[in-house]
Amino acid sequence: MFTVNLQNNDLPKSLRYKELATTLSALLDNEREFLPNMSNMASFLYFSLNDINWCGFFLVKNGDLLLGPFQGKPACVRIEIGKGVCGTSAQNRESVIVEDVNNFPGHIACDVDSRSEIVIPLLKDGKLLGVLDIDSPTLARFDQEDKMGLEKLVSILLEHSDCY
Ligand code: SME
Repeated sequence: MFTVNLQNNDLPKSLRYKELATTLSALLDNEREFLPNMSNMASFLYFSLNDINWCGFFLVKNGDLLLGPFQGKPACVRIEIGKGVCGTSAQNRESVIVEDVNNFPGHIACDVDSRSEIVIPLLKDGKLLGVLDIDSPTLARFDQEDKMGLEKLVSILLEHSDCY
């Protein structure tokens, strides 16, 4: 079975994301189905990133974002595009970093422990497939290095999967 080097957080963030990119590529290498690849990526990130309490996907369906594979407490099932942090990222097709969720108008609180959040859109051949959402119980947990690192990890997921 695949061995993942979890929680090696002594490295500087940029190097840590390089290591995660190599490991994720290997983890997804033998499968092109989108659903199991998202499932394993959600688990991989949940157990590899420090100081997070929710990690998962919302997928575009009939104009809304619908809950996909995730790790963490049960979450809201449906988010309108344009609403909350996820819906805003989906609408603008760009990553959103929220340092304090209480200061984000319209933030949708799924887990009261969440204090900061990052959302990365899933874009393949110009089409919006969904978003990757990660929450932290710590204020301002995510910065530009997380954004760049996670955008790379999302691109690895999309390259390794036949998306529909
Ligand atoms: N906080 C998100 C909703 C999803 S949960 O955090 C898992 C938002 O405002 O879009």
